[in-house]
Amino acid sequence: METSPVIDLINSHRSIRKFSSKELTNTQVKTIVEAGRWAPTSHHVQAYSIIVVEDKETKQQLAKLAGNQTYVETCPVFFVICADYYRLKQASDQHSQPFEIGEQEQVIVGAVDAALVAQNMLLAGRSLGMGGVMIGGIRNDPDSVSSLLELPEFTFPVMGLCLGYPSQNPDQKPRLPHEAVVHYEKYDPTKIGRAMTEYDQLMQQYYQDRTQGKRSDAWSEQMASFLSRPKRPQVGSFIKKQGFLK
Ligand SMILES: Cc1cc2nc3c(=O)[nH]c(=O)nc-3n(C[C@H](O)[C@H](O)[C@H](O)COP(=O)(O)O)c2cc1C
Repeated sequence: METSPVIDLINSHRSIRKFSSKELTNTQVKTIVEAGRWAPTSHHVQAYSIIVVEDKETKQQLAKLAGNQTYVETCPVFFVICADYYRLKQASDQHSQPFEIGEQEQVIVGAVDAALVAQNMLLAGRSLGMGGVMIGGIRNDPDSVSSLLELPEFTFPVMGLCLGYPSQNPDQKPRLPHEAVVHYEKYDPTKIGRAMTEYDQLMQQYYQDRTQGKRSDAWSEQMASFLSRPKRPQVGSFIKKQGFLK
């Protein structure tokens, strides 16, 4: 395979949840945000906003709202990346056009834009020696998160991003094998079963090594449990309340 510094950076990803006390400078925060701003964006809508949270108390509340995820509080900077059509409503009003965000499509566009921004930011941080983890837990209680951050209508929080200097050095978590996720020319379902069995064994070994034998669940088992119940039904109603899916 070919390599480059960017490919090496991407392929050495692991989430970081423990941070040293080293703060980020204002310039560093600006640099990270700037990298987010340069993400590609669907139809140039740029349907996202980034809330930079450094205030200790706000981080503490967000940590609680995200399901008591302490690293939301202990990271030096927490970003909340939102889907945002608030500006776009203003553009529609300014030009006396109807404002049509009632389809699933606009929700997907906003969420995809936000995700691309977040990944750019994480990679930018990592290229400067930082580490981080994305936080979907921010959608546990979108109403309270929005009140806390004073998010206006036509926005919703998509994910958080903890960023800082790592004080841990975790192993990389193995990914599904190539055969399970890549198809050439046409989707080939026949190869998935074997690839998943292989991956289950790999993940069992990974958890066993990482937890000194305390944990050895297979990936398929984890996923089956994860998908056996609704996850965040409140997200749908919150998004509607914000003006989407009408
Ligand atoms: C959109 C998104 C939301 C996530 N939410 C959380 C979260 O709330 N809490 C957490 O600890 N990790 C969260 N993660 C991190 C994943 O658990 C992690 O990426 C995955 O287990 C793979 O591990 P790795 O990133 O170390 O390779 C999230 C990742 C993504 C992409």
